[in-house]
Amino acid sequence: MVRIVPVASGKGGVGKTVLAANLAVALARLGRATVLVDLDLGASNLHTCLGIKSSSLGLGALAWRQERRFDSLVMETPVPRLHFVPGDGLLPGTANLDHAIKTKILKGVASLTADFAVLDLGAGSAHNVVDFFLASPRGLLVARPETTSVLNAYSFLKTAVWRLLFRALPKGGPERTRLAEFASRRLEGSGSSFLALADELAREFPAAAAALAQLRAFVPRVVLNQGRSQADVELGGRIRAIAARNLGLGVEYAAFLPDDPAVPHSVAEREPVVLTRPGAPFSRAVADLAARLAAEGPESPPHLALDEEDLESLAAAALAAGDGFAEGS
Ligand SMILES: Nc1ncnc2c1ncn2[C@@H]1O[C@H](COP(=O)(O)OP(=O)(O)OP(=O)(O)O)[C@@H](O)[C@H]1O
Ligand SMILES: [Mg+2]
Repeated sequence: MVRIVPVASGKGGVGKTVLAANLAVALARLGRATVLVDLDLGASNLHTCLGIKSSSLGLGALAWRQERRFDSLVMETPVPRLHFVPGDGLLPGTANLDHAIKTKILKGVASLTADFAVLDLGAGSAHNVVDFFLASPRGLLVARPETTSVLNAYSFLKTAVWRLLFRALPKGGPERTRLAEFASRRLEGSGSSFLALADELAREFPAAAAALAQLRAFVPRVVLNQGRSQADVELGGRIRAIAARNLGLGVEYAAFLPDDPAVPHSVAEREPVVLTRPGAPFSRAVADLAARLAAEGPESPPHLALDEEDLESLAAAALAAGDGFAEGS
């Protein structure tokens, strides 16, 4: 079965597209058949990172009903084992996607014949974006080491947990009413977490047991991009701690990607940096993330093993490898 890797962020412009493109290339280079899907509908620009012209039909063709089958949108790329599904620059955005088309895309992605499907999502916490993120219990959430980006990442996680529970609880049932009451009452940082609520509901209503199980299996992976300093490294751990305390959510701090001038150079050249500059600190960190994803078995349980200590040594290596990018505060 294809492993879906959605790439989201609470705030725009933090490096989702660059990460999605380079991670997909790195997975393909590791021998994994990979499909990269441009789901940033309305603002699609993933093809430019791969140096592909956007002349083929993309997901807009499904929405405009010019094309009925998702799989006929899959195209080859110059990279062996990497395929691509173009998005659409003219649709009025993922947020406004029709429910039937969203379902068709989700089913199409899940039935791809590939090892990985990497989804580049639009920024923010619109329900449609969150629904694509929830296509996997282990999606990647990108943040930059700056206050607004970290706060938006936390908001994204909160919306995702709320949406996951809402979708997993029976339609029209008392469980959903309780969730809505809980969300409106809840004060940040005080009271109980969503996990505590799910626990309580599962004890009271047999139908809520599935929602609790899904919440427990949901362990998103935070990626800090454009990090410059040791203080930046530590932010990832803080997101993790706050998500655990306030939401009852397990979060894996999956990668620290350094700020690297090779990235904008490659973007300007319309080439994936992992191909053109494999030795650059960013490329090495992405290749490392790809290797870790590729090494996980398809059924592997959510693992929280990569703790701050492991991550700090990875980050220290990334920082040490980079000459040419600033050591921040
Ligand atoms: N690690 C990095 N080092 C230096 N520059 C970077 C790094 N990551 C991303 N950038 C730069 O940041 C810019 C934004 O990246 P990108 O387009 O991938 O963000 P995005 O999250 O997809 O944005 P949007 O929300 O608009 O889709 C790019 O021009 C890229 O060159
Ligand atoms: Mg983007």
